[in-house]
Amino acid sequence: MEIERQVELFNKQATKYVRRVNQKNSDQKMRQRLLQGAQGDILEVSVGAGANFKYYPKTSRITAVDFSPAMIEQAKLVASEQSRQVDFHIGNVEEIDFPEKSFDTVISTLSLCSYPHPEKVLQKLSSWCKEDGQVLLYEHGISSNPIFAWLQHKTDAFFLKKQGCHMNRDILGLVQSAPLSIVRNESYMLNAVHLIWAKPKE
Ligand SMILES: C[S@@+](CC[C@H](N)C(=O)[O-])C[C@H]1O[C@@H](n2cnc3c(N)ncnc32)[C@H](O)[C@@H]1O
Repeated sequence: MEIERQVELFNKQATKYVRRVNQKNSDQKMRQRLLQGAQGDILEVSVGAGANFKYYPKTSRITAVDFSPAMIEQAKLVASEQSRQVDFHIGNVEEIDFPEKSFDTVISTLSLCSYPHPEKVLQKLSSWCKEDGQVLLYEHGISSNPIFAWLQHKTDAFFLKKQGCHMNRDILGLVQSAPLSIVRNESYMLNAVHLIWAKPKE
């Protein structure tokens, strides 16, 4: 899919994402569980409407990237409501550059499903993270349940067209092939949803 079309799709979903920010559900529980250890200089890629800001320490410096101007607009409102200072960048994560080893915590939630080249993004997340830093991931992908996995394969093209994201990526496989060491992994919902605590490979 053309990147411009994908940006358009996510622009249209921005208000839906902002409604999720204050919900109390399993999605928020996942975020809280993963992000309770976020600290220091934080980089969040594909930030969406800023659903994670409330889990970051008030003292953290936050840098956030997304290619959707509408998502960034919503995230700016959320940051302002929560009195968060955030350095926002509108850009494509696959193309943007940050200095190597410059963040203590690098975060992606529900974004590996949307990149054309997720392996390239994982490489970048690792390179932007300090050697003693952490990469925190909350991602969805292909289930280990054959019936659910069949459904995910069947509906993949539909979700890509309508929402700009893939249903059937092998998230653990991608992370295992990346220059990252997995410190801890928890999988939920028929192993289709993963919380991953990782660090750059030495
Ligand atoms: C499924 S939403 C998740 C948003 C947010 N991370 C969350 O957890 O609520 C995916 C987000 O990734 C952004 N995105 C997708 N591909 C991107 C890319 N190549 N560069 C920058 N942002 C991207 C979209 O605009 C959207 O905000």
